[in-house]
Amino acid sequence: MIKGYNLTNIGTPLKVLFTSYLCVVGIGYMMAFTQILLTHGMADGKFGLSVDDIVYSYYGDRTGTLLENKLNGSMKDMADEPDRVAIIKWVRDGAEESTFESSGAKMVFENTCIACHSAEAGMGLPDFSKFENIKERAQQDTGASVASLTRVSHIHLFGISFIFFFVGAIFVFAKNVPIWLKGTVIALPFVSQIMDIASWWLTKFDPMFAWLVLIGGSGMGIAFAFMWFVSVYEMWISKRDDSSVIDEH
Ligand code: HEC
Repeated sequence: MIKGYNLTNIGTPLKVLFTSYLCVVGIGYMMAFTQILLTHGMADGKFGLSVDDIVYSYYGDRTGTLLENKLNGSMKDMADEPDRVAIIKWVRDGAEESTFESSGAKMVFENTCIACHSAEAGMGLPDFSKFENIKERAQQDTGASVASLTRVSHIHLFGISFIFFFVGAIFVFAKNVPIWLKGTVIALPFVSQIMDIASWWLTKFDPMFAWLVLIGGSGMGIAFAFMWFVSVYEMWISKRDDSSVIDEH
């Protein structure tokens, strides 16, 4: 730490810069959490994040197909009951191309699903205007693919370490936190992140690792909240403390 400076006395412009950054990443964190609830949280068809959700997301619900599981989970509200049933029935009947149209499934995909699931929609989702992409998801659900895990893993490793580097760098200047606690809280999100991502891969091969995902995610959340509140508190509420400033005059 630079001698003499701490979050209580860094001056208003730096406080404004740090606080603005913390507010924006704070909102980003809440958005990320909302997204997790809306996708993984719905994997078992019930709202809220559970170990089952994580197993279904990464290991897959191997009693069913991805299409059926999604239509009973996060895609449930995307189509009316008869349309969902039409797809599920077609999948259960073997998902043959020859019955794709006559079963009514094709029409549902075209009228409802490709609004988001197509190249034109630009949402980066599997393109359901191509039959092979539908067929692929009518097989046993084995969870996230290695390709998608690799993609999400590297985005998370780079992106999240970037966020925690700066949140940690601000928190380094906290005045009233003992060194051992400060060091632990700064390291925790990095350790949790590795644990979180390693456990996605482990869960893909064995569902018993799903609880590690929850621990990893919680570790990151707790460290983030702690650093955020202590930093903002010291900048705007704590009394200015210059006790370690060396007066050179
Ligand atoms: C409003 C946009 C939207 C519509 C309409 C929509 N989806 Fe989705 N779909 C998504 C999003 C976003 C995801 C990724 C998040 C998730 O998996 O829940 C997704 C994921 C999926 C997946 C998982 C794909 C994969 O490989 O991980 C399937 C299967 C799926 N949708 C089926 C359907 C079906 C069938 C319909 C039509 C009844 C449909 N969706 C309509 C937005 C949509």
